[in-house]
Amino acid sequence: MLGKGGLFHDGRARDQFEQVQRPFFDKNEMNLPDEATFASLLRESAYGKRMREALGEAVWKNDAQLSYHAYRALVEFLKGPLFRPFDARIDDYLDGDVSALSEAEKRGLTVFKEAGKCADCHFVVPNSWAKPLLSDYGYDNLGVPSRRAKDPGLGGHTKDADDLGKFRAPSLRNVALTSPYMHNGAIATLQEVMEFYNKRYLEQERWGATDYPQTVNHEDMGDLKLTEQQVSDLVALMDAFTDRSLLSMRPGDRFPAVPVGVPTTTEKRLHFPDWTHRLHPAFPGDAPKVERVEGTLLNSSSLRP
Ligand code: HEC
Repeated sequence: MLGKGGLFHDGRARDQFEQVQRPFFDKNEMNLPDEATFASLLRESAYGKRMREALGEAVWKNDAQLSYHAYRALVEFLKGPLFRPFDARIDDYLDGDVSALSEAEKRGLTVFKEAGKCADCHFVVPNSWAKPLLSDYGYDNLGVPSRRAKDPGLGGHTKDADDLGKFRAPSLRNVALTSPYMHNGAIATLQEVMEFYNKRYLEQERWGATDYPQTVNHEDMGDLKLTEQQVSDLVALMDAFTDRSLLSMRPGDRFPAVPVGVPTTTEKRLHFPDWTHRLHPAFPGDAPKVERVEGTLLNSSSLRP
């Protein structure tokens, strides 16, 4: 069974189906008041006509059902090959191409796996996927500097005091493209992230207060005794985690091209157990009707809870 937590930095969404819904209604994102509003925006959208043709009139007119199909379509999109090209230089290197990394990056990888202990949480071996995801998707409190209001992280969701201030270890894929860092963006550059891991506890004044000092992980970080050279080799390594398909995007491209050889969604289906295909809470009474709709985005097997 699943451990604690799920998606988002604080693990508040149980699965992708729940995750894709939140941004529409979150006050910091689209801030829509309710599903009726969401459904009416779908009906007015540029692709509304195509949804109507695919889903049929009954679904099209029903707010809950139309919303449900939009969420499901988003989940399918996220499972697509676009999001898992695995064409970073680290992938070539781990596949045996030793020329894929520079000398500094190779030294960085050694620090990552040994003295830096990074790979204890950011796995460089495959775990839940055929390629390394650079995370164990566990939760930890690293003692990240406070910003604005306290953020309880996983603890806000599990209501367990031991989880206060813990956040999900993110994948480090494409991390060089996504500053600032940590759940609250408190650290601006990768150089500073490495300095933070190396000396957080020796430099209390530099990093300042953290929201929940009582749950901070003091064992795996904060006094790593890395040299300046090792710190800069770690920074160098982060570039090797960037997908080439992202780097080759040109202004105006909406999405990166999927590299040749990346398996399709159907081929990879095994990696996404069907438990994510849950029914919308509004659904039970209506489900059989949807199953009968011709040409729907769903088939009956995906309506299993
Ligand atoms: C004990 C587990 C653990 C270890 C060891 C660890 N990390 Fe992390 N890492 C995390 C967690 C958890 C976060 C997210 C923390 C947060 O947002 O508050 C994180 C965040 C990061 C981030 C920021 C990612 C982003 O997008 O914001 C980088 C970069 C990073 N780690 C690199 C490393 C490196 C390099 C090392 C080794 C020096 C390392 N980590 C060691 C668990 C760990």
